Amino acid sequence: MKILVTGGAGYIGSHTCVALMEQGYSLVILDNFSNSKPAVLDNLRKLNDNFVFYHVDVTNEEALERIFSNHKIDGVIHFAGYKAVGESVAEPLKYYMNNVGSTMILAKVCQKYNVNKFVFSSSATVYGENQVPFKEDMELLPTTNPYGETKAMSERILMDVAKANPKFAVSILRYFNPVGAHESGLIGEDPNGIPNNLMPYITKVAKGELEKLRVFGNDYPTPDGTGIRDYIHVMDLAEGHVAAYKHLRKGVHIYNLGTGKGTSVLELVHAFEKANGIKVPYEIVERRPGDIAICYADASKAERELDWKAKRDIVDMCRDAWRFESGI
Ligand code: WQD
Repeated sequence: MKILVTGGAGYIGSHTCVALMEQGYSLVILDNFSNSKPAVLDNLRKLNDNFVFYHVDVTNEEALERIFSNHKIDGVIHFAGYKAVGESVAEPLKYYMNNVGSTMILAKVCQKYNVNKFVFSSSATVYGENQVPFKEDMELLPTTNPYGETKAMSERILMDVAKANPKFAVSILRYFNPVGAHESGLIGEDPNGIPNNLMPYITKVAKGELEKLRVFGNDYPTPDGTGIRDYIHVMDLAEGHVAAYKHLRKGVHIYNLGTGKGTSVLELVHAFEKANGIKVPYEIVERRPGDIAICYADASKAERELDWKAKRDIVDMCRDAWRFESGI
């Protein structure tokens, strides 16, 4: 029995593959390398080689059919998708076709091959401007970007599929802000081009590849004026997926994967500097359009129902991110 992991060469996907293989699962990994590199698979093999890989786009239904007919798939974990918020505003159709399209096609092939275990990679972005801490039973408010809408739509599609097929067991995981890297330093966050997200930008500045960090606004209603987020170590997130897969049961179950703690931009910068003994030059600039002031999870449901809780702290996140980026 194997688990199919779409987007398994990506940042969160590759770390989850490590955690799954550590638990003895055999994997079928798919990726089209639109936001990852083949070298990730070589490093993954250094950690564990209990997987086969297919260079496949998940919207390619025929390719999926071939894989499902050649392997006994027990369940799927669906990471594959574009995730750049700004890009989604500029190119909404690219995001709807890929993110929502891939979810529909994958769910369709699962139904055809009677594969009824489905873990979906969602995002805290679906909460929109709700009041923090975000809770799974909150009414979803419109998000500020098409990326967030693709996640909210995919969630609703999976709910409808589960209503029509009582055997379908779905776990929807809403991520907060994944950062850090596997302790080996072999895999980590390695976005193509200039990083959109805070931590990979900080590590590039620390490495001297980028001149300084632009802090997007210090006039938010927060203690130091900068944006607050719930940063979670990517290996905690990976282990959250293993727990969710093990606890899959019929119907749709939604879980926040966060720490429940908020950290500001400047707090993260200073934690990184202290943890690694490196100065990170920065400049306060204007707010980034679409950003919200504060975002952090009520993470208690996953702790209750999945017997999972994030256990790594901000120092671990900063040290592990730097070890991967610096190659030490
Ligand atoms: C974090 C904080 C910025 C960069 C996004 C997606 C979300 C999820 C995670 C996919 C904010 C500030 C950032 C920089 C800065 N992705 N910042 N300078 O926007 O919270 O979430 O990534 O699921 O869906 O929306 O993450 O890392 O971009 O920003 O000041 O160069 O850092 O304003 O306060 P975000 P982020």
